[in-house]
Amino acid sequence: MHRALTDFATNSKGKQLHPTSLLQASHGRVDRDSLESLAGQSILNPRQFDRQTVIAIAQLAALLETRNVEMDKPLDGKIAITAFFEASTRTRLSFESAVQRLDGKVLSVPDGQVTGIAKGESLADIGEMLNTYGDVVIMRHPDTNSIDEIRKNLQRPLINAGNGSGHHPTQALIDWYALLKWRPELRHADCPQDRRVHLGIIGTPGSMRAVKSFLRLALLFNGAVKRITLISELADPVGLELTDSIEESPIPIDMTNDAQEVMPDLDIIYVNSIAFLGDSYRNLDTRYKLNRNSDMKKDAVIMHPLARNDELAEDLDSTEHNLYFAQAAGAVFVRQALLTAVLDRLGRISGI
Ligand code: CP
Repeated sequence: MHRALTDFATNSKGKQLHPTSLLQASHGRVDRDSLESLAGQSILNPRQFDRQTVIAIAQLAALLETRNVEMDKPLDGKIAITAFFEASTRTRLSFESAVQRLDGKVLSVPDGQVTGIAKGESLADIGEMLNTYGDVVIMRHPDTNSIDEIRKNLQRPLINAGNGSGHHPTQALIDWYALLKWRPELRHADCPQDRRVHLGIIGTPGSMRAVKSFLRLALLFNGAVKRITLISELADPVGLELTDSIEESPIPIDMTNDAQEVMPDLDIIYVNSIAFLGDSYRNLDTRYKLNRNSDMKKDAVIMHPLARNDELAEDLDSTEHNLYFAQAAGAVFVRQALLTAVLDRLGRISGI
Protein backbone atom coordinates (compact mmCIF):
# COMPACT_ATOMS: atom_id res chain seq x y z
CA MET A 1 0.00 0.00 0.00
CA HIS A 2 1.18 3.50 -0.69
CA ARG A 3 -0.35 6.90 -0.18
CA ALA A 4 -1.90 8.67 -3.13
CA LEU A 5 0.18 11.34 -4.79
CA THR A 6 -0.06 14.71 -3.10
CA ASP A 7 0.88 16.91 -6.02
CA PHE A 8 -2.57 17.66 -7.42
CA ALA A 9 -3.18 21.29 -8.18
CA THR A 10 -6.56 22.85 -7.61
CA ASN A 11 -8.25 25.55 -9.67
CA SER A 12 -6.28 28.79 -10.00
CA LYS A 13 -9.28 31.13 -9.81
CA GLY A 14 -12.85 31.20 -8.61
CA LYS A 15 -14.56 29.31 -5.82
CA GLN A 16 -12.48 26.62 -4.12
CA LEU A 17 -14.28 23.40 -3.24
CA HIS A 18 -12.95 21.13 -0.51
CA PRO A 19 -13.62 17.38 -0.51
CA THR A 20 -13.74 17.27 3.28
CA SER A 21 -17.07 19.12 3.33
CA LEU A 22 -18.82 16.23 1.62
CA LEU A 23 -16.89 13.56 3.55
CA GLN A 24 -17.61 15.13 6.92
CA ALA A 25 -21.28 15.51 6.04
CA SER A 26 -21.30 11.79 5.13
CA HIS A 27 -19.43 10.95 8.40
CA GLY A 28 -16.54 9.66 6.29
CA ARG A 29 -18.69 6.88 4.87
CA VAL A 30 -18.70 5.75 1.27
CA ASP A 31 -21.69 3.74 0.07
CA ARG A 32 -19.76 0.72 -1.19
CA ASP A 33 -22.82 -1.32 -2.17
CA SER A 34 -23.82 1.30 -4.74
CA LEU A 35 -20.29 1.41 -6.12
CA GLU A 36 -20.06 -2.38 -6.36
CA SER A 37 -23.17 -2.41 -8.54
CA LEU A 38 -21.07 -0.71 -11.26
CA ALA A 39 -18.54 -3.55 -11.59
CA GLY A 40 -18.28 -4.63 -15.22
CA GLN A 41 -20.96 -2.16 -16.30
CA SER A 42 -20.85 0.11 -19.32
CA ILE A 43 -21.58 3.75 -18.51
CA LEU A 44 -23.68 5.02 -21.38
CA ASN A 45 -26.53 7.21 -20.17
CA PRO A 46 -27.08 8.95 -16.81
CA ARG A 47 -30.51 7.29 -16.74
CA GLN A 48 -28.73 4.22 -15.36
CA PHE A 49 -27.80 6.02 -12.13
CA ASP A 50 -29.94 6.47 -9.06
CA ARG A 51 -29.30 9.27 -6.58
CA GLN A 52 -27.50 6.94 -4.15
CA THR A 53 -25.00 5.90 -6.82
CA VAL A 54 -24.28 9.49 -7.85
CA ILE A 55 -23.62 10.32 -4.19
CA ALA A 56 -21.47 7.20 -3.72
CA ILE A 57 -19.28 8.12 -6.70
CA ALA A 58 -18.95 11.64 -5.28
CA GLN A 59 -18.03 10.26 -1.86
CA LEU A 60 -15.28 8.07 -3.29
CA ALA A 61 -14.07 10.96 -5.47
CA ALA A 62 -13.91 13.13 -2.36
CA LEU A 63 -11.93 10.47 -0.50
CA LEU A 64 -9.47 10.32 -3.38
CA GLU A 65 -9.31 14.09 -3.59
CA THR A 66 -8.21 14.33 0.04
CA ARG A 67 -5.01 12.73 -1.28
CA ASN A 68 -4.69 10.99 2.04
CA VAL A 69 -5.92 7.51 1.24
CA GLU A 70 -4.05 4.22 1.20
CA MET A 71 -4.14 2.59 -2.25
CA ASP A 72 -2.65 -0.62 -3.56
CA LYS A 73 -2.15 0.29 -7.23
CA PRO A 74 -5.88 0.03 -7.98
CA LEU A 75 -5.63 -0.37 -11.74
CA ASP A 76 -2.38 -2.32 -11.85
CA GLY A 77 -2.53 -4.71 -14.82
CA LYS A 78 -5.48 -2.92 -16.41
CA ILE A 79 -5.39 -1.11 -19.76
CA ALA A 80 -7.85 1.65 -20.61
CA ILE A 81 -8.37 2.60 -24.24
CA THR A 82 -9.36 6.20 -24.84
CA ALA A 83 -10.86 6.24 -28.33
CA PHE A 84 -11.65 9.84 -29.25
CA PHE A 85 -13.15 10.43 -32.68
CA GLU A 86 -13.86 14.05 -31.75
CA ALA A 87 -11.80 16.80 -30.13
CA SER A 88 -11.48 17.05 -26.36
CA THR A 89 -9.34 18.89 -23.84
CA ARG A 90 -10.77 17.81 -20.50
CA THR A 91 -12.43 14.46 -20.94
CA ARG A 92 -9.65 12.50 -22.61
CA LEU A 93 -6.82 13.98 -20.58
CA SER A 94 -8.58 13.69 -17.23
CA PHE A 95 -9.51 10.07 -17.95
CA GLU A 96 -5.91 9.32 -18.91
CA SER A 97 -4.62 11.13 -15.85
CA ALA A 98 -7.06 9.18 -13.68
CA VAL A 99 -5.90 5.83 -15.09
CA GLN A 100 -2.23 6.67 -14.68
CA ARG A 101 -2.66 7.99 -11.15
CA LEU A 102 -4.24 4.63 -10.32
CA ASP A 103 -1.26 2.75 -11.81
CA GLY A 104 -3.13 1.53 -14.87
CA LYS A 105 -1.97 1.89 -18.47
CA VAL A 106 -3.52 3.82 -21.34
CA LEU A 107 -3.80 3.23 -25.07
CA SER A 108 -4.77 6.59 -26.51
CA VAL A 109 -6.49 7.40 -29.78
CA PRO A 110 -6.62 11.20 -29.67
CA ASP A 111 -7.99 11.47 -33.20
CA GLY A 112 -10.08 8.86 -34.99
CA GLN A 113 -8.43 9.71 -38.30
CA VAL A 114 -5.33 7.81 -37.20
CA THR A 115 -7.42 4.61 -37.13
CA GLY A 116 -8.78 2.53 -40.00
CA ILE A 117 -11.77 4.92 -40.04
CA ALA A 118 -9.62 6.96 -42.47
CA LYS A 119 -9.74 3.96 -44.84
CA GLY A 120 -13.44 3.29 -44.38
CA GLU A 121 -13.30 0.79 -41.51
CA SER A 122 -16.49 0.45 -39.49
CA LEU A 123 -16.79 1.26 -35.80
CA ALA A 124 -18.18 -2.22 -35.26
CA ASP A 125 -14.96 -3.78 -36.61
CA ILE A 126 -12.87 -1.46 -34.43
CA GLY A 127 -14.93 -2.63 -31.43
CA GLU A 128 -14.07 -6.23 -32.25
CA MET A 129 -10.35 -5.37 -32.24
CA LEU A 130 -10.49 -3.51 -28.93
CA ASN A 131 -11.75 -6.63 -27.13
CA THR A 132 -8.20 -7.94 -26.91
CA TYR A 133 -6.35 -4.64 -26.55
CA GLY A 134 -7.75 -3.32 -23.30
CA ASP A 135 -10.03 -3.81 -20.30
CA VAL A 136 -12.27 -0.76 -20.67
CA VAL A 137 -12.98 1.55 -23.61
CA ILE A 138 -13.69 5.24 -23.17
CA MET A 139 -15.13 6.62 -26.40
CA ARG A 140 -16.15 10.02 -27.74
CA HIS A 141 -17.77 10.24 -31.13
CA PRO A 142 -19.78 12.88 -33.02
CA ASP A 143 -22.36 10.29 -34.11
CA THR A 144 -25.13 9.77 -31.57
CA ASN A 145 -25.52 6.16 -32.80
CA SER A 146 -21.83 5.37 -32.34
CA ILE A 147 -22.51 3.65 -29.00
CA ASP A 148 -24.76 1.05 -30.61
CA GLU A 149 -22.36 0.65 -33.51
CA ILE A 150 -19.22 -0.13 -31.48
CA ARG A 151 -21.18 -2.34 -29.09
CA LYS A 152 -22.16 -4.67 -31.92
CA ASN A 153 -18.86 -6.43 -31.23
CA LEU A 154 -17.27 -4.80 -28.19
CA GLN A 155 -17.50 -6.97 -25.10
CA ARG A 156 -15.51 -4.78 -22.71
CA PRO A 157 -17.20 -2.10 -20.57
CA LEU A 158 -17.71 1.05 -22.61
CA ILE A 159 -17.71 4.50 -21.03
CA ASN A 160 -19.51 7.09 -23.12
CA ALA A 161 -17.35 10.22 -23.17
CA GLY A 162 -19.87 12.09 -25.33
CA ASN A 163 -21.84 10.86 -28.36
CA GLY A 164 -23.18 13.55 -30.68
CA SER A 165 -26.30 15.07 -29.18
CA GLY A 166 -26.75 11.99 -27.00
CA HIS A 167 -25.20 12.04 -23.54
CA HIS A 168 -22.08 12.83 -21.55
CA PRO A 169 -22.73 10.87 -18.34
CA THR A 170 -19.33 11.33 -16.72
CA GLN A 171 -19.55 15.11 -17.17
CA ALA A 172 -22.85 15.03 -15.30
CA LEU A 173 -21.19 13.07 -12.47
CA ILE A 174 -18.48 15.73 -12.34
CA ASP A 175 -21.11 18.48 -12.25
CA TRP A 176 -22.90 16.88 -9.34
CA TYR A 177 -19.65 16.19 -7.54
CA ALA A 178 -19.00 19.93 -7.62
CA LEU A 179 -22.49 20.72 -6.35
CA LEU A 180 -22.29 18.15 -3.55
CA LYS A 181 -19.00 19.64 -2.38
CA TRP A 182 -20.45 23.14 -2.59
CA ARG A 183 -23.62 22.24 -0.65
CA PRO A 184 -23.39 18.70 0.84
CA GLU A 185 -26.98 18.98 2.11
CA LEU A 186 -28.20 18.72 -1.49
CA ARG A 187 -27.66 14.96 -1.20
CA HIS A 188 -30.64 14.61 1.15
CA ALA A 189 -33.97 13.27 -0.06
CA ASP A 190 -35.50 16.00 2.11
CA CYS A 191 -33.12 18.95 2.10
CA PRO A 192 -34.04 21.79 4.52
CA GLN A 193 -36.40 24.21 2.74
CA ASP A 194 -34.10 27.19 3.13
CA ARG A 195 -31.21 25.31 1.50
CA ARG A 196 -33.13 24.15 -1.58
CA VAL A 197 -31.93 25.63 -4.84
CA HIS A 198 -33.46 27.21 -7.90
CA LEU A 199 -31.52 25.87 -10.87
CA GLY A 200 -31.35 27.81 -14.11
CA ILE A 201 -30.08 26.14 -17.27
CA ILE A 202 -29.09 28.39 -20.17
CA GLY A 203 -28.98 26.02 -23.08
CA THR A 204 -30.89 23.50 -25.13
CA PRO A 205 -30.82 20.05 -23.49
CA GLY A 206 -32.26 18.35 -26.56
CA SER A 207 -29.18 19.27 -28.62
CA MET A 208 -26.53 19.67 -25.93
CA ARG A 209 -25.36 16.39 -24.47
CA ALA A 210 -23.67 17.79 -21.35
CA VAL A 211 -26.74 19.89 -20.52
CA LYS A 212 -29.05 16.95 -21.14
CA SER A 213 -27.03 14.64 -18.87
CA PHE A 214 -26.80 17.29 -16.15
CA LEU A 215 -30.55 17.83 -16.26
CA ARG A 216 -31.19 14.10 -16.14
CA LEU A 217 -29.23 13.85 -12.88
CA ALA A 218 -30.86 17.02 -11.53
CA LEU A 219 -34.21 15.25 -11.72
CA LEU A 220 -32.87 12.71 -9.19
CA PHE A 221 -32.27 15.45 -6.62
CA ASN A 222 -35.93 16.39 -6.27
CA GLY A 223 -35.62 16.83 -2.52
CA ALA A 224 -33.06 19.59 -3.00
CA VAL A 225 -33.88 21.32 -6.28
CA LYS A 226 -36.99 23.41 -5.66
CA ARG A 227 -37.38 24.68 -9.23
CA ILE A 228 -35.69 24.37 -12.63
CA THR A 229 -35.90 27.10 -15.26
CA LEU A 230 -34.76 26.32 -18.79
CA ILE A 231 -33.60 29.42 -20.63
CA SER A 232 -33.34 28.86 -24.36
CA GLU A 233 -33.87 30.54 -27.71
CA LEU A 234 -35.90 27.54 -28.81
CA ALA A 235 -39.61 27.10 -28.05
CA ASP A 236 -39.06 23.42 -27.14
CA PRO A 237 -35.50 23.00 -25.87
CA VAL A 238 -36.03 19.70 -24.04
CA GLY A 239 -36.06 17.15 -26.84
CA LEU A 240 -37.85 13.81 -27.00
CA GLU A 241 -35.78 11.81 -24.57
CA LEU A 242 -36.42 13.91 -21.48
CA THR A 243 -39.94 15.15 -22.18
CA ASP A 244 -41.72 12.42 -20.21
CA SER A 245 -39.29 12.61 -17.28
CA ILE A 246 -39.76 16.37 -17.07
CA GLU A 247 -43.51 16.09 -17.14
CA GLU A 248 -43.47 13.44 -14.42
CA SER A 249 -40.91 15.15 -12.18
CA PRO A 250 -42.14 16.57 -8.87
CA ILE A 251 -39.79 19.52 -9.49
CA PRO A 252 -41.60 22.49 -11.05
CA ILE A 253 -39.88 23.06 -14.40
CA ASP A 254 -40.55 26.15 -16.47
CA MET A 255 -39.13 27.57 -19.68
CA THR A 256 -38.40 31.09 -20.78
CA ASN A 257 -36.40 32.95 -23.39
CA ASP A 258 -36.03 35.94 -21.09
CA ALA A 259 -32.92 35.41 -18.98
CA GLN A 260 -33.17 38.81 -17.28
CA GLU A 261 -36.56 37.96 -15.84
CA VAL A 262 -35.35 34.93 -13.92
CA MET A 263 -31.62 35.54 -13.35
CA PRO A 264 -31.91 37.39 -9.99
CA ASP A 265 -33.69 34.38 -8.45
CA LEU A 266 -31.25 31.65 -9.52
CA ASP A 267 -28.91 29.89 -7.09
CA ILE A 268 -27.16 27.86 -9.79
CA ILE A 269 -26.73 28.97 -13.39
CA TYR A 270 -25.62 26.17 -15.72
CA VAL A 271 -24.62 27.54 -19.09
CA ASN A 272 -23.42 26.05 -22.37
CA SER A 273 -23.63 27.07 -26.01
CA ILE A 274 -22.20 24.19 -28.05
CA ALA A 275 -25.03 22.19 -29.63
CA PHE A 276 -25.05 19.25 -32.00
CA LEU A 277 -27.51 19.95 -34.79
CA GLY A 278 -27.96 17.59 -37.71
CA ASP A 279 -24.41 16.42 -38.31
CA SER A 280 -22.29 19.28 -36.99
CA TYR A 281 -21.66 21.43 -33.93
CA ARG A 282 -23.06 24.94 -33.73
CA ASN A 283 -23.38 27.63 -31.14
CA LEU A 284 -26.92 28.08 -29.83
CA ASP A 285 -28.35 30.40 -27.22
CA THR A 286 -25.55 32.87 -27.87
CA ARG A 287 -27.82 35.81 -27.10
CA TYR A 288 -27.41 34.96 -23.41
CA LYS A 289 -24.11 36.28 -22.14
CA LEU A 290 -22.91 36.21 -18.57
CA ASN A 291 -20.40 38.67 -17.23
CA ARG A 292 -19.46 40.34 -13.99
CA ASN A 293 -22.33 42.84 -14.38
CA SER A 294 -25.06 40.24 -14.85
CA ASP A 295 -27.90 40.62 -12.39
CA MET A 296 -27.19 37.58 -10.22
CA LYS A 297 -27.66 36.76 -6.55
CA LYS A 298 -24.53 37.57 -4.58
CA ASP A 299 -23.93 33.89 -3.79
CA ALA A 300 -25.15 32.41 -7.09
CA VAL A 301 -22.73 29.99 -8.73
CA ILE A 302 -22.10 29.54 -12.44
CA MET A 303 -21.37 26.13 -13.92
CA HIS A 304 -20.15 25.36 -17.43
CA PRO A 305 -18.87 22.05 -18.86
CA LEU A 306 -16.35 24.03 -20.99
CA ALA A 307 -15.13 24.73 -23.66
CA ARG A 308 -16.70 28.18 -23.57
CA ASN A 309 -17.25 30.86 -26.11
CA ASP A 310 -18.36 34.41 -25.40
CA GLU A 311 -21.45 33.30 -23.44
CA LEU A 312 -19.21 33.29 -20.36
CA ALA A 313 -16.94 36.31 -19.94
CA GLU A 314 -13.45 35.89 -18.49
CA ASP A 315 -14.14 38.76 -16.11
CA LEU A 316 -16.15 36.23 -14.05
CA ASP A 317 -13.17 33.92 -13.58
CA SER A 318 -11.78 35.62 -10.51
CA THR A 319 -15.18 35.97 -8.81
CA GLU A 320 -16.90 33.65 -6.32
CA HIS A 321 -19.57 33.03 -8.99
CA ASN A 322 -17.02 30.90 -10.80
CA LEU A 323 -17.76 27.29 -9.95
CA TYR A 324 -16.75 26.12 -13.44
CA PHE A 325 -13.03 25.91 -12.76
CA ALA A 326 -13.62 23.94 -9.55
CA GLN A 327 -16.10 21.78 -11.47
CA ALA A 328 -13.40 20.93 -14.04
CA ALA A 329 -10.80 20.38 -11.31
CA GLY A 330 -12.90 17.56 -9.83
CA ALA A 331 -12.87 15.54 -13.05
CA VAL A 332 -9.83 13.37 -12.35
CA PHE A 333 -11.18 12.23 -8.98
CA VAL A 334 -14.65 11.38 -10.30
CA ARG A 335 -13.12 9.44 -13.16
CA GLN A 336 -10.75 7.65 -10.77
CA ALA A 337 -13.73 6.65 -8.64
CA LEU A 338 -15.75 5.45 -11.62
CA LEU A 339 -12.92 3.45 -13.18
CA THR A 340 -12.09 1.77 -9.89
CA ALA A 341 -15.72 0.70 -9.52
CA VAL A 342 -16.24 -0.38 -13.15
CA LEU A 343 -12.98 -2.37 -13.12
CA ASP A 344 -13.94 -3.97 -9.78
CA ARG A 345 -10.89 -2.76 -7.88
CA LEU A 346 -12.59 -1.06 -4.91
CA GLY A 347 -10.85 -3.54 -2.61
CA ARG A 348 -7.54 -1.84 -3.37
CA ILE A 349 -8.57 1.43 -1.75
CA SER A 350 -8.65 1.39 2.02
CA GLY A 351 -11.35 3.13 4.00
CA ILE A 352 -14.32 2.17 1.85
N1 CP B 1 -16.43 19.06 -20.72
C1 CP B 1 -15.90 18.46 -21.81
O1 CP B 1 -16.45 17.46 -22.31
O2 CP B 1 -14.77 19.02 -22.27
P1 CP B 1 -13.91 18.48 -23.50
O3 CP B 1 -14.76 18.65 -24.74
O4 CP B 1 -12.68 19.30 -23.52
O5 CP B 1 -13.61 17.03 -23.26
